[in-house]
Amino acid sequence: MTRTLYLLCSAAPPVFDVAHVIEDAQARGWDVCLGLTPTAAHWLAGSLDGLAALTGHPVRWQYKLPGEPDVWPPADALLFAPATFNSINAWALGLTDRFVVGVAAEALGKGTPTVTMPCTNTALAAHPQFEQSLAILRTAGVDVRFGEGGFIPGPAGPDAPASFPWPIALDAVSA
Ligand SMILES: Cc1cc2nc3c(=O)[nH]c(=O)nc-3n(C[C@H](O)[C@H](O)[C@H](O)COP(=O)(O)O)c2cc1C
Repeated sequence: MTRTLYLLCSAAPPVFDVAHVIEDAQARGWDVCLGLTPTAAHWLAGSLDGLAALTGHPVRWQYKLPGEPDVWPPADALLFAPATFNSINAWALGLTDRFVVGVAAEALGKGTPTVTMPCTNTALAAHPQFEQSLAILRTAGVDVRFGEGGFIPGPAGPDAPASFPWPIALDAVSA
């Protein structure tokens, strides 16, 4: 039976890998639904139609209007990656003005198996809220892949991190 994975991405450079990540997840048997923050959707504006065709589902970055039907099947698992400093803190604090953060917040209450791989630099990671946000998410049952066994942050500066270990994130979600 096909299992449904909600792949939620915020606006950090690894989001540009998302088509390959979707193909890898599909090869592992997942039916993928792609959700983006509004900023990530803006970054991928030219690719949104192709990504919808690739997944076979609408790419979502906004809440539906009241009365509109749900267009995604229910999730069997959720992967929030790359997750920005901003999205991690919003998720942990329950600030759900963005669609994907709302989906991720609800997933905690629903008990949906959830993995996140934050992507931020060491300067932002040193902000006192960040460690608290990771602790809140871990306590809520999220498999947080940051540091050893996940994304290793580098110093502030370059536009893109040297590498983002997507296979670790997909392995974690399959486990
Ligand atoms: C080129 C570029 C690279 C960025 N890389 C990161 C990053 O790796 N991690 C991060 O937390 N924010 C990064 N940002 C900042 C986020 O895009 C910004 O905070 C944005 O508001 C995040 O919104 P979102 O969490 O709703 O996607 C980057 C911004 C730019 C323009």
